[in-house]
Amino acid sequence: MKIDVLALFPEIIAPALETGILKRVQEADKLTVNLHNLRDWATDKHKSVDDYPYGGGAGMILKPEPIFAAVAALNSEETAHIIYLTPQGTPLTQGVAESLSLETHLVLLCGRYKGVDERVRDRLVTTELSIGDYVLSGGEIAALVLIDAIGRVLPGALGDYESAHVDSFSQELLDHPHYTRPAEFGGMRVPEVLVSGHHENIEKWRYAEALKRTAKHRPDLLQKLELSEEDIAILKTAGLAE
Ligand code: ADE
Repeated sequence: MKIDVLALFPEIIAPALETGILKRVQEADKLTVNLHNLRDWATDKHKSVDDYPYGGGAGMILKPEPIFAAVAALNSEETAHIIYLTPQGTPLTQGVAESLSLETHLVLLCGRYKGVDERVRDRLVTTELSIGDYVLSGGEIAALVLIDAIGRVLPGALGDYESAHVDSFSQELLDHPHYTRPAEFGGMRVPEVLVSGHHENIEKWRYAEALKRTAKHRPDLLQKLELSEEDIAILKTAGLAE
């Protein structure tokens, strides 16, 4: 998988590519990330990449020419997904990250200021993605979030590849609590079931905890699922359902 990033501040992204799983998948040649500065495609002598909005108003707009030139250079085969990171995009979810991880070439376009000239969106962009309902000062951090979410689910990315697919959200529930040694710390004991060695009970406990946590913090996720009578009983006992 190759990812080309087009940004005004690519240096925001660079250090994160040199650590952890992202570093490992690149070393294993499963992922190549190329960071590009949009200014390299500026055509005038001032290297300008932005201009005032037609119709007036505050804020600057990223000019179309450098972006079209950059995408033409990076996508000469015309097979890449051109993804624009914007708060107006569709939400980035685990499912979106997993399906993008199957692509061979992505071009990530990071906005700044008031965003890009609309003609870029009309003609170039194939997908618009948002990482959440808040406004960042630019798309670079959002692009990094996307690269990280994709990088860790690339086949062979995790030592234990399966764990990316069985962990939180892949099962549409939030993750259950985790504990490690010591069994008692500051007067707090690890739940007895986890040290019992009884695998079936452990799985049941984990499922119930995940269900309760989801009901408490993300009831919207539960609405999308068909709960069994047993599920509802678990939630009732915890005072999380009527
Ligand atoms: N650029 C600025 N804010 C953003 C967001 N929430 N998601 C994606 N790109 C952005």
